Amino acid sequence: MAKQKQNYPDFVYFVILLLHAHSVSARVLPLLQSCDKSIFRSSFHTIYDTSNYGVLQLNNGLAQTPQMGWNSWNFFACNINETVIKETADALISTGLADLGYVYVNIDDCWSTVTRNLKGQLVPDPKTFPSGIKALADYVHGKGLKLGIYSDAGAFTCQVRPGSLFHEVDDAKTFAYWGVDYLKYDNCYNLGIPPKKRYPPMRDALDGAGRTIFYSLCDWGVDDPALWAGKVGNSWRTTDDINDTWASMTTIADLNDKWASYAGPGGWNDPDTLEVGNGGMTYQEYRAHISIWALMKAPLLIGCDVRNLTTETFELLSNKEVIAVNQDPLGVQGRKVYVSGKDGCLQIWAGPLSGNRLVVALWNRCSKVATITATWEALGLESGTHVSIRDLWQHKEIAGNVGSSFSARVDVHDCQLYIFTPWTVAHSAL
Ligand code: GLA
Repeated sequence: MAKQKQNYPDFVYFVILLLHAHSVSARVLPLLQSCDKSIFRSSFHTIYDTSNYGVLQLNNGLAQTPQMGWNSWNFFACNINETVIKETADALISTGLADLGYVYVNIDDCWSTVTRNLKGQLVPDPKTFPSGIKALADYVHGKGLKLGIYSDAGAFTCQVRPGSLFHEVDDAKTFAYWGVDYLKYDNCYNLGIPPKKRYPPMRDALDGAGRTIFYSLCDWGVDDPALWAGKVGNSWRTTDDINDTWASMTTIADLNDKWASYAGPGGWNDPDTLEVGNGGMTYQEYRAHISIWALMKAPLLIGCDVRNLTTETFELLSNKEVIAVNQDPLGVQGRKVYVSGKDGCLQIWAGPLSGNRLVVALWNRCSKVATITATWEALGLESGTHVSIRDLWQHKEIAGNVGSSFSARVDVHDCQLYIFTPWTVAHSAL
């Protein structure tokens, strides 16, 4: 039978129109804020292209800012068990990292047995997770944290545990029953079926499972997920796996940069978890890593052993001002705006923040100490705009009245991170 056209009274149409107008303006408004013509050049919109911001929306209410927490893979790989997960939850609390926003405790691959049970359900490995995932979720929730789990949009996970392809509804129900809050969904053993076919069924299954679960797609950037994953998940990996080297971290930052215009509240580009604290990079390189991840609105998922943090690692992970850049409500991904030097190794990355502010990173990827100069043209600031500048690693205002350009000496592979606040704004706020 053909569907009847509904005849509503006029006021209902009016309300629908208002609601529609609201949802559109809710998306566009925060961006308009950043367009004060006396401060920004017309090039601002090209430099910080946000044309795709919020266009695709999963709308499960999650990921209004990038997710923060911890993930087991980078440090522990398959050497995980319920004690490690519980101790990690304890450490997130005792270090104060949880209070800073690191609330997801995410179990990666290797938590399950190699086969399903006779009912076809996933089973936690009885040797390593004898109390089961529900008990672990209760423990983590008892601390005010959230539990994440891992599965795969294929026949098996990458470490050859059962995958969820064709088991989406059952597995989503299991995760919801256990009290899981987050699912990372990998791409191994995918039978050659395109990601666009394999990832939406788990979205729908999670949607029907009766629990709000953060959906983190991990298809390694196959088929350019930024172009379609916004209506499927809350974040999508844009690259292959990170490893604990300068080469890997810089390559991944550049690859993720390409998709900046697609990020926004509800859905984020994911250049993979942090390696900060794992020992393969220098302090300066790790400082660059977290600075750029924060600026790119990447998920901040710690990938080291938080039970044994050095003072330096803790300092890098716990910088409130850097975290605030990442969690800024405007939710616009910052990007590489200018390069100079040999092979473009002197770099400026920047992005709009709420309140007409800009985050600016001066990143020296060369092998010698160098001075990097950011001109107002490169940043999209109108000439004549005066800014005050705050250094987020030194935690202090380093200049109160800067016009036309700003220079700083930057150590080898280091990254200085600043917030530029245009004067007109600072003054009008008084
Ligand atoms: C893939 C993912 C990684 C990690 C491993 C686990 O390589 O991309 O992030 O989850 O699988 O096996």
